[in-house]
Amino acid sequence: MSGTFYVTTPIYYVNAAPHIGHAYTTIVADVLNRFHRLAGEKTFFLTGTDEHGDKIAAAAEKEGQTPKEYVDRISGLFRDLWPKLNISNDYFVRTTDRAHKDVVRIILDRVNQKGDIYYSDYEGLYCFGCERFYTERELVDGKCPDHLTEPEVIREANYFFRMSRYQDWLVDHIEKNPDFIRPERYKNEVLAFLREPLEDLCISRPKSRLEWGITLPFDDRFVTYVWFDALINYISALGFPDGERFKTYWPAAQHMIAKDILKPHGIYWPCMLRSAGIEPYRHLNVHGYWNINEGKMSKSLGNVVRPLDLVDIYGLDAFRYFLLRDMVFGLDSEFSEEALVARINADLANDLGNLVSRALTMVHKYFKGELPKGGAPDRGDDELRESALALLDPYDRHMRELGFHKALIAVWELIGKVNKYIDTTAPWVLAKKDRERLATVLFHVVEVLKVVSGLLWPFMPASAEKIQEQLGLGKKGAQLTLSDLARWGGEKPVRPLCRAPALFPRVEEKERKRRAQAAEKVAEEKPMEIISFDEFKKLDLRVGIIREAQAIPKSKKLLRLTVDVGETRTVVAGLAGHYNPDELVGRQVVLVANLAPAKLMGVESQGMVLAAVDDGGVHLLAPDGRVEAGCRVS
Ligand code: MSP
Repeated sequence: MSGTFYVTTPIYYVNAAPHIGHAYTTIVADVLNRFHRLAGEKTFFLTGTDEHGDKIAAAAEKEGQTPKEYVDRISGLFRDLWPKLNISNDYFVRTTDRAHKDVVRIILDRVNQKGDIYYSDYEGLYCFGCERFYTERELVDGKCPDHLTEPEVIREANYFFRMSRYQDWLVDHIEKNPDFIRPERYKNEVLAFLREPLEDLCISRPKSRLEWGITLPFDDRFVTYVWFDALINYISALGFPDGERFKTYWPAAQHMIAKDILKPHGIYWPCMLRSAGIEPYRHLNVHGYWNINEGKMSKSLGNVVRPLDLVDIYGLDAFRYFLLRDMVFGLDSEFSEEALVARINADLANDLGNLVSRALTMVHKYFKGELPKGGAPDRGDDELRESALALLDPYDRHMRELGFHKALIAVWELIGKVNKYIDTTAPWVLAKKDRERLATVLFHVVEVLKVVSGLLWPFMPASAEKIQEQLGLGKKGAQLTLSDLARWGGEKPVRPLCRAPALFPRVEEKERKRRAQAAEKVAEEKPMEIISFDEFKKLDLRVGIIREAQAIPKSKKLLRLTVDVGETRTVVAGLAGHYNPDELVGRQVVLVANLAPAKLMGVESQGMVLAAVDDGGVHLLAPDGRVEAGCRVS
């Protein structure tokens, strides 16, 4: 083992279900973690959920649950998602874990004993969305730059962390460690911020306003500010202060975040660590945003992309590959399904998939899977070998410098070369006249495939392992380390090579639709499942009144309804052909009000109306008397 590596994702808020942005950060962390395993390092990978604070308390209340019931449910959505995305985290931390809360109190005590906490009256501009105070100069046109809402003036006595004390130290640390915050644009952003005097940080919330948090060890009338609590997860999960894991992994810590939470990670967290007498983390790795139609993705805009929808249609490894190939780490990217399909067809089905299948078909056809050694290499063979081996260093550098797309481009250059090599050497011609030369050529092709499968493993673990199985290798995944890959011909097959169905079938437009429909059908055809009363209780059924109904252009089945359930919801329903839009207006319906929004024909449906369906058609359900809009159905 050479070296250690520790990577974290942000701990995600449990006020919304996971979307493609959360999936990206976690997959990127997974790719980096797997790369370090491939490099033979001892690794630790942490993710988890952030469960305290105003936002969560408000979301729980809206759903009619206690905060604890609510956080258990949503945290579970995250925890259950990660295995489906092949995320190899070693631990899942929750800020409601007892061990985490204990560490938060230890840190608060340390910082307090250091004299870095004071109590003071404060009046400030507070954004409830961000759960923090803003200074005038941080606002844009008097509004919170993230939520575009005007902050409220709040006056209350609170505890403050003397962050200002650490300003000079932090500037100095960033300047002396140029890769502390990377890519550089984000380092510059933090330094620019630090050019102005740093204000102290309000780290408490009075319980009269918010109870859902960790009580301050030195004043039980207050809970800890959610960011001061949350950041500490990165060390509480390692068993700070005495845990072996903390000692082993903390010096190698790398945080993965997006640009939205640069300030707490780039400023608050190093100052907190410094005050508590703990070494700063090693790197803060900051990526950009996935946007949809050039705008931000958000629940209220109704353009949230759910990772599992894409995985169900296109396959996990295609999804992982696309995310890593299309985003330049640090910059924003535009998500589109068309771009995903184009990548699958060109890079995966065509370049990589064809290479694997034609290579293995030939080894099978000409040598029954038992490839002989072959003869002396010629110049073309040597060039191919050199290209493969020469890739290892730049690949290693790109991965360590977060140039994931560059690493992939480099691997694809090699794939292009070997495809060309096959075309030029024409093994099908050699098969008829020179079997020794044929064996030499196929040996080179197979060796390159070994290298390619190893380098792709961090990105597409399942597909890489399938290739390694087909190559008959004894080692696969992280066992086939970078140093194994550097030994040309060193890893011998322990079984005959075999063929398998295409790894990445092409996605034609028609096929894409068929798959989407099939996935929907499978979901519909599940056998009856018994649910508990508690599960049933989670359904939020409400009576709504249809205020507007319109056909959706180009759709034979769907109508767009505006339903009043105390608030206005847009609902897409398969009622066309069964009801005229006009006859629906004014009708009462029963609405599933807490269904995750889904986009149908470009319209986000924020609920589902219930109907009985039989051979005679569709019959909407409604109460048998007039009730108020929003009335609960129980
Ligand atoms: N709970 C805090 C983090 C505390 S860490 C000590 C939080 N949670 S969050 O649920 O809002 O997650 C924010 C993170 O989700 C971003 O930093 C990023 O990792 C990921 N993303 C959310 N939306 C994203 C995009 N549209 N694009 C890329 N990543 C995004 O902030």
